[in-house]
Amino acid sequence: MDSIMAQTLNEIVVDSPGRINLIGGHTDYNNGYVLPAAIDRKIAFRLKKNGSAQMCHIQSKGYGTPLRLNLQKVEKSSVEWENYLLGVIAGIQKLGHSLEGFDCEIESDLPIGSGLSSSAALECGLASGLNALFELGLSKLEIITLSRRAEHEFVGTKCGIMDQFSSVYGKSDHFIFLDCSNLHHTYVPASMGPYELLLLNTNISHQLSDGQYNSRQDECFEAVAQIQKQHPRITSLRDVDLDLLSSCKALLTDIQYQRALFIVQENQRVVDAAEALKSKDIEQLGSLLYACHEGLRDLYDISCPELNFLVDYAKEQNYVAGARMVGGGFGGCTIHLVHGDHMESYIKEISEAYKREFGIDLGAFPVRTSNGTTLRKLSDAAL
Ligand code: GLA
Repeated sequence: MDSIMAQTLNEIVVDSPGRINLIGGHTDYNNGYVLPAAIDRKIAFRLKKNGSAQMCHIQSKGYGTPLRLNLQKVEKSSVEWENYLLGVIAGIQKLGHSLEGFDCEIESDLPIGSGLSSSAALECGLASGLNALFELGLSKLEIITLSRRAEHEFVGTKCGIMDQFSSVYGKSDHFIFLDCSNLHHTYVPASMGPYELLLLNTNISHQLSDGQYNSRQDECFEAVAQIQKQHPRITSLRDVDLDLLSSCKALLTDIQYQRALFIVQENQRVVDAAEALKSKDIEQLGSLLYACHEGLRDLYDISCPELNFLVDYAKEQNYVAGARMVGGGFGGCTIHLVHGDHMESYIKEISEAYKREFGIDLGAFPVRTSNGTTLRKLSDAAL
């Protein structure tokens, strides 16, 4: 049975993890490959029916003022975080399911707007929680799809499917090798020998919905439309290889060519990275991460000085196998593959260097891969 949570309960607690993407930047909405994992940083939802037919009350520790809503009138809000939740509720209603009044408390140890997909965790967590509380019988894929639609329609970010997919399908100690063209996926063991995952948060907060994310996507789609003029069978950059792209260069603007080149190269890097991981070739994996960062910086043009500083710093240390920026871009986090023996001293040194350079405190947290959205037994449910 594909339903995430089939338990009948009046009160439930759901853990909804963030994600990292080892490699495969911006390939998801281009029908390409990604290699993400859910992480042990999460948003927890405690949900219960409140006996009312339509009044709901959602309180989040991180977001200040609570959200009160009437289920008969679910509309976009001027408060951005509310839209992730409202979009999910509207999406469930659109599928023909009726909800009743509920109260929800949210608590998070996932940094917001940092490229760790707090938005997908918010959407998929609420969708999974309501699914369990009201026994809606939604499948995992329905939860993923309606959560993604919430982001498109209520928030305005035309995100790909990777974040929602990873948050729901994550598996402890594994990365997910996902083909975004058909959602076929396999799990690759996250065994990296002595290397561990470290996330560094620039504390430069990005705003995906401010247009830059969508404009990168438009540029990729425009490149496809141009290439299609000569090659009608091409429907996404996934179908394009380096030879075909270079034969079409004259059809494209410089910007379109650069965006497309990055995506074509990045798809190959994801395939190579999955192989490197399987054969535990962490040096090769690390150099793919550095190459990915360079492409995101120079061809996709979505990095920023703070992200570049952290990756350049990593390159100088022989105990760091690789590093790159993660997420939508323009801030947020970098991921580093650090030899466990040096983790503590590395965090200290890079934090000091970052503070000296930018006057900003660096957020640093080692992470592990984790299971996807999980219903917690109420007996363990201390929020
Ligand atoms: C954001 C989006 C994802 C993906 C990444 C970049 O996290 O939500 O769909 O495109 O950016 O890889």
